[in-house]
Amino acid sequence: MLAVGRGRWGTVDRDSTQGALASIGLVTWLVTGGAGYIGAHVVRALQGSGRTCVIVDDLSTGVASRVPVDVPLVLGDIHDGPMLQAVMRDHHVDGVVHLAAKKSPTESMADPLLYYRENVGGLESVLSSMVRAGVTRIVLSSSSSVYGVPSSELVDEDAPLAAINPYGMTKAVCELMARDCAAAYGIAATILRYFNVAGAGGISLGDVGVFNLIPLALRAVTRGERPAVFGTDFPTPDGSGVRDYIHVTDLAEVHALAAARLESVIAGVGQRSPDVYNVGRGEGVSVLEVLAMVRSVTGHDLPPLRSARRAGDPPSVVGDTSKITRELGWQARHDLRQMVESAWESWRVTHMKAPGSELTPSDP
Ligand code: WQD
Repeated sequence: MLAVGRGRWGTVDRDSTQGALASIGLVTWLVTGGAGYIGAHVVRALQGSGRTCVIVDDLSTGVASRVPVDVPLVLGDIHDGPMLQAVMRDHHVDGVVHLAAKKSPTESMADPLLYYRENVGGLESVLSSMVRAGVTRIVLSSSSSVYGVPSSELVDEDAPLAAINPYGMTKAVCELMARDCAAAYGIAATILRYFNVAGAGGISLGDVGVFNLIPLALRAVTRGERPAVFGTDFPTPDGSGVRDYIHVTDLAEVHALAAARLESVIAGVGQRSPDVYNVGRGEGVSVLEVLAMVRSVTGHDLPPLRSARRAGDPPSVVGDTSKITRELGWQARHDLRQMVESAWESWRVTHMKAPGSELTPSDP
């Protein structure tokens, strides 16, 4: 019997049953923020693994044209509980991948309440709706920002939550909320701590927001400006900030693996604590190294502009990724060059026009 609605879980052989159902598209995941940069890749990864998706997105930063034609897009705000419950019921949602959130550490320093409202309030609404609609699985997007300034070169999942900006703090609170809901309501959760996400899985899927190092550097070079290096006096090998960059398609793939794992969990009160995974490459790359790659890929040879440190920036954050490799059998496949090349290809199409042979910048 192909009954996959909520509250109709079988008790035996769940792995193979759910795997079989997913392969014929009968397991449905609600992806909040599914029209966003990361969300669009996650939706494709879930579909590619045989799952059905429905998206809730308010299109504040998402783009409707990124949504595959066979995926319903519900235009709405995640704070709207009745809307979420209706989507969960109408689409027989089996689990939620929650991505809709604000993600800029810098912006969060200036407007922390916005981050608490959107990230903490948003997740509270999603979890409350899940409880009301009887949905028992969530893959939660978290961030390496929860670690603050890690005390080890490679930070593992057992390191303390010690965010140094409100963005990271809201993600830490979200993780704790998921943990408490696992115990109280039987919600099975997997928490993914993203490191620095970059690249594109297709020309139309690039990051249209210009907030992170690689998009900012691409914008600078296409404007004929020197890309900025925020801080050159960090205690790192070349003095610039070190991060762990991960290709967005590698990251997206993890969501399908996490979904498959959660589908095999039998729902019930007193669920064990969420599984928590770092999602990175486990390799530190400095800002100056990223900018050297941008020069190599784009051919724009503008020297970096050394600038002051940005508020709330840790010197170095690189993930220990052994746990996710061990438990989910996952390992990143794309390197920094592939991230910058795919971001650049997408950037050229999205942000520039080409009269004749000469590319000219157009305002993002
Ligand atoms: C990277 C490095 C900057 C711009 C990101 C996400 C956050 C979270 C963690 C997922 C830093 C430097 C930047 C520029 C620069 N990921 N920089 N010149 O702050 O590490 O946070 O990863 O949840 O959501 O935003 O990313 O790309 O802003 O900065 O020198 O023009 O590049 O100081 O060292 P960050 P970022």
